[in-house]
Amino acid sequence: MPLRWRLALLFTLGAAILIGGVALLFRQQLAAGMNSSLDDTLRARADAQVARLASSTPPPPAPFREHEGNGRAETSDPGSDDVTQVLSTSGKVLENSGDSRGPLASGTRLRDAAKGSEQFTAVIEGQRYRMLGVPARNGDRTVVVVVGASTQIVEATKARTGKIFLTAGPPAAALMGFAAYLLAGAALRPVERLRRRLADISEHDIDARLRVPGTRDEIATLATTMNTVLDRLARALARERGFVADAGHELRTPLTTLKAELELAQQPGRSRQALAAAVDAAAQDTDRLIRLAEDLLLLARADEGHAFLRPRPMTPHDVLAAAVRSASARAAAHRVTLRLSGDEHLRLTADPDRLRQAIDNLLDNALRYSPPGGVIDVGLGRHGRHRRAVAVIEVRDHGPGFPPEFLPVAFERFRRADTARSRADGGTGLGLAIVRSIAHAHGGRAVADNPPGGGARVRLELPATPAQDGPAHDG
Ligand SMILES: Nc1ncnc2c1ncn2[C@@H]1O[C@H](COP(=O)(O)OP(=O)(O)OP(=O)(O)O)[C@@H](O)[C@H]1O
Ligand SMILES: [Mg+2]
Repeated sequence: MPLRWRLALLFTLGAAILIGGVALLFRQQLAAGMNSSLDDTLRARADAQVARLASSTPPPPAPFREHEGNGRAETSDPGSDDVTQVLSTSGKVLENSGDSRGPLASGTRLRDAAKGSEQFTAVIEGQRYRMLGVPARNGDRTVVVVVGASTQIVEATKARTGKIFLTAGPPAAALMGFAAYLLAGAALRPVERLRRRLADISEHDIDARLRVPGTRDEIATLATTMNTVLDRLARALARERGFVADAGHELRTPLTTLKAELELAQQPGRSRQALAAAVDAAAQDTDRLIRLAEDLLLLARADEGHAFLRPRPMTPHDVLAAAVRSASARAAAHRVTLRLSGDEHLRLTADPDRLRQAIDNLLDNALRYSPPGGVIDVGLGRHGRHRRAVAVIEVRDHGPGFPPEFLPVAFERFRRADTARSRADGGTGLGLAIVRSIAHAHGGRAVADNPPGGGARVRLELPATPAQDGPAHDG
C-alpha cells in the first residue's frame, strides 16, 4: 500500500479514536456536572423540609396529607418530576408530595438515612430518580425526609450528545484522513521527483546528479546523500572502466608480439635455430601473459572483497630470506648486492605466499632501478606495542628514487613514472598496486618514499598483535 494511503488511514483511525475518547469524556463530565447540580438542589430541598418539620408540631400519621388542603403546599415541589416524602423511622409515610405511592425508602436504607444522610437512586414508575434521605426532628420524634428528582434531563442530554458525536464524528475523522492524504501527497512530491530523476540516470550519463532543493530539509539532505553516493559510484565505475581499458591495452602488446613470432616461425625455410629462438620468445611472452592474467585476477578478487589470503602463523624472515635467495642470481648479473637484516624470530599471522609475491615485486623494482655496484637493503622490524604493534618489512635501493610527483600515485594500477622505459623492461605498472592490495588484505598498509641518502624505499606494515606472536618472539 502506498505510504500516502497508509498515512491517511492511520490519521483517520487516530482521529476516530480521539473523537470517540473526547465524546466519552465530554458526556461523562456533562452528566457528572448535571448530577452534581441535581444533588445541590436535593440538598437544599431536604434542608428546607428539615427546617419546616423542626418548627411545626408533629403531623398525624397521614400518608396523603398533601391532598388535604395546605398540606400539599407544605410539601409541594417546584418541578413536576420531583418527589418528597416524610417517613417515620418505622417506614410509615407521614407526608407525600405526589400521587398515591408507597414509601420511597425502607429497611436498611431508611435506617441509614435516619442516622445520617443517604444518597441513592430509585426507579419510580419506570423513571430513574436521584434520591436523598436525611433525618429530621419533628416535635420529639425523629423522622426521615426523602427527596428525589428525576434524572430524565441528564439521560436525555447524554443521549443527545452521543447522537451528535455519532453523526459528526465519522465525517470529521474522514475529513482529517483526507487532509492527511493531501498533506502526505504534498510532502512526498519532492521525493517522487527525486525518484524519477534517479530512475532516469543510466550508466551512460554517470555525471548526471540530482538537483538539491534549497529547502535545507530532509529532502535536501536525501538529495545531497544520493549525489554523494552517485559520485562514489561514478568514481568506481570510471576506475573499473579504466582498469578494463588498461588491462586490454597491456594484454594486447604481448599478444601482438606473440602472434608476430608465431607467424614468423610459420614461414617456410626457417632454420632449426631460428625456430627454437621463436619458440623461446613465444614462451617468454606467454609467461608474461600468464603473470599479467594472475595479477589482474588477484586485483579483481581484492576489489570484490574476496578473502584471497590464507593466513597462518609464520616467520616473515624465512620468506624474506627465500625471496633474497631467488633474486640473488639476477642481482649478481646486475652486480648488485642484496643485504638482509632484521629479527629472525619475529612471528606473525600472514599468508606466506602472498607476502612472498609482494616482496618479489619490491625486489624486482629495486633490482631494475639499482645502479651496477649498488646495494639493496631488505629489513624486518617491529614497531609499536600491544594492539598497535606492526611488523615492518622494508626494501630499499640506492637508485634514482621515485620521481617526487609520482609518489602520491605510485600504488595506483598501471601507473609508471617512466612509461617508455618500464614498458621496454616488461613492467605493466601493477607491481606496487598488488603490494598495496596484499598489505590491505592483511589489515596493514604500504608506504613509499625517498629516504634521506637517496634511493627508493617501500615499507610494508602488517599488524603484529601479541596474540599473533609465537612464543619464539622475544619482543
Ligand atoms: N625502486 C624504484 N625506484 C624508482 N622508481 C620505482 C621503483 N619502484 C617502482 N618505481 C616506479 O613506480 C612505477 C610502478 O611500479 P610497479 O612495480 O607498480 O610497476 P612496474 O614495475 O612498472 O611494472 P610491474 O611491477 O607490473 O612489472 C614503476 O614503473 C617506476 O616508475
Ligand atoms: Mg614492478
